[in-house]
Parts: sequence; C-alpha cells; structure tokens
Amino acid sequence: MGFEKFDFFWYFKILYRNFGKKSISFSTFCNVKTSPRQVSQVFQKAQSAFAAVEDLESLALFEQTFLGKKGEIALLRKSLKELSPEEKQILGPEIQKGFEVISSQAEAFRTKHASKALMAQLEKDWIDVTKTEAFSRGAIHPMAQLQRRIEQIFTSMGFDIADGPEVETEWYNFDALNVPGTHPARDMQDTFWVTHDQKDAQKNVVLRTQTSNVQIHWMQKYGAPLRMIAPGRVYRNEDVDMTHDATFYQVEGMMVDKHISLAHLKGAIETMLAEVFEKDIKVRIRPGYFPFVEPGLEVDIWFEYVDKNGQEQAQWLEFMGAGMTHPEVLRNGGIDPNIYSGFAFGFGLTRLAMLKHGIDDIRLLSSQKKDFLQQF
Ligand code: PHE
Repeated sequence: MGFEKFDFFWYFKILYRNFGKKSISFSTFCNVKTSPRQVSQVFQKAQSAFAAVEDLESLALFEQTFLGKKGEIALLRKSLKELSPEEKQILGPEIQKGFEVISSQAEAFRTKHASKALMAQLEKDWIDVTKTEAFSRGAIHPMAQLQRRIEQIFTSMGFDIADGPEVETEWYNFDALNVPGTHPARDMQDTFWVTHDQKDAQKNVVLRTQTSNVQIHWMQKYGAPLRMIAPGRVYRNEDVDMTHDATFYQVEGMMVDKHISLAHLKGAIETMLAEVFEKDIKVRIRPGYFPFVEPGLEVDIWFEYVDKNGQEQAQWLEFMGAGMTHPEVLRNGGIDPNIYSGFAFGFGLTRLAMLKHGIDDIRLLSSQKKDFLQQF
C-alpha cells in the first residue's frame, strides 16, 4: 500500500500545527499520528485478527486487544484529543462505526459458538433407546439376594419381616434380653458405646451388637402370638481379618404362641436351610448358653464342600444360637410366660452367604469390588 495523497495532506497538517512549538521530539511527532489511514489500518488488523478467532478463549483475547479499555480502538479514541475539531468530526464517527462493527461481529461469534457447544453436548448425551446389545448394568448385591430369599422362605411360613434400630439403648441390647451387667459382651472390647456414662441402661446408647433387640421391640409392639424374622446389621468392636468384620448382618427369628416347642424351631431351620442350599442339610443341636433363652442351644450344620485341591470335604460347622425364650425376656416384652412360650434364633447372614458361595474373605462382601460382585 502506497503513501496516498490524503495521508500526505494529513502529515503536512500535523507538521504545520507543531511548527510553532519550541522543541517537539520525534516521538511526540510520531505519536500524533491519527490519520484516516491509520484508523483504517487498525480496522484491517482487527479484521484479520478476527478471522483467526476460533473459540471463546481467543475471542476474549481479541476483544481485549481491540475493544478493551486499553485496546487499539481506545488508543485511537484517546488520540482524537490531539486533533482539531474538523479532524475529530471526520475520524470520530469513523472510529465509532468501526468499533460497533467489530463489537457486533464478536457478539455474533459468541452466540454462534455457544449454540455450537450446546449442540455438541446434546450430541454427546444422545442415547439410542432402540439399541438392543447388552451393556453393563447394576445388579443386586449377593447379601441382599440372600436376605430376600430368606425373607421369602420365612414369609411363606407365616413370619413377618421385622426391623429395629441399629443405634440402640443399652437396655434393649442387653438388659431386656436378660444379659447380666457383668457379662463380657458389654465390655469395651466387644461393644461400640455411643454413651457409656449413665447409670440408667435406658439412657446409655450402643451400636447394637445383635439383632436380638428386635425381639423386645416386636413383642412390645404386637404382643403374642407372633412370628417374625429380623434381618439387619450389627456392630462389634473387633479387629478386622478374613473371618471377622466390625459390622456384619444377622437374621433374628422369633415365634411366640401357645405350646411352642423346640420341634417348631428345628422344623423352621431345616426348611430354611433346605431352601437356601437347595438340598437337605443335616442339623445337630447341642446345649449352649445365651442369657435370653432357656434352654439355650447351638445349632451346627453338616457342611459339604469342595476344597481348593478339588477334594470333597464335609464337617460340622457352628451355624447359630437358638433356644426357648427365657420367661424374663417374654415379660420384658409384655408377654405372660405362663400362657405363652416361644423360640428364638439368630444366625450370621454374612456367614451364610460365605458358606453358600464359598467366599473365604468376609471383607470382599463390603468391598464393592466389581469383579467380585459380578459373579453373583
Ligand atoms: N444374639 C445371639 C448372637 O448374636 C444369637 C442368638 C439369637 C442366640 C437368639 C439365641 C437366640 O450370638
């Protein structure tokens, strides 16, 4: 681009205006430079810079360079001050027009880009509901599966599904169940105490160590006769290893009616085991001690399995505690032991899941490991 006539005229004017001044430095001379040519150069520069804008980030930079407070157009405007009124009249509107053109270009780009980003997001979120191939989906946890199965089995025998608090008073967890104040289970080692400083057992709070607390709640709420199972989570202050966890699941069972005997208990348990293992399971009953049952029993099962070397094995395994409900416990539940009797049992649902599926590390069941869980 050559040096045009008009420019020449302009420079001449500037020279002329500064002529009378004493010392005008070269730089001042150069700074007083606003001419139509320079204005159009700035706008040309802006146009080619705008052509290179490709996203919101480069747009911001572009706006800062040309439209910003200290941008090129702001400089042009500032330099108008140096000009005569006639010059201002020519260049002022020109600069303003250019500014408006660039601003609206930038705005249009912003709008277009925002809708492009929205379309890209919509494209990404698109779900083809007609797709039929298999995709990975969630499944019911093996513990929940087994719990549901057991609930089905017992409801088919007329039992209700009961529920009780995991955060419980010392009274419901121990005293009401006839557990003596000195019983080692109340020790700091076995029980998570929430509060331990009250004299009154109704006021101290524990994380329940057993689902047996639900026996009392259910008797108080519904009276006799009753049949219930109470699956749920319990807590023990224990070191965690392959076979122990500080929290696990139990299933409590209770039946109270006139003329209940151990035969009812045995029948209910054998029915449940046969359903869970899909074959008859041999059961052995031994005397055992639990403060809330009299007589108290340990129930063992004859467990057949294939060991790591592929050898068939079988052995007696302790499976659960049970017994005839202690008269004191019936009374604490508001039931007259002279009219009613009952049985109760409690087993580890977590342990049953491990036996059924051949799981040797209890921690896997709460691990949320996908490759483990996908097997069930
Ligand atoms: N609550 C006992 C336990 O946790 C099990 C049990 C329940 C025993 C009911 C007898 C009767 O070991």
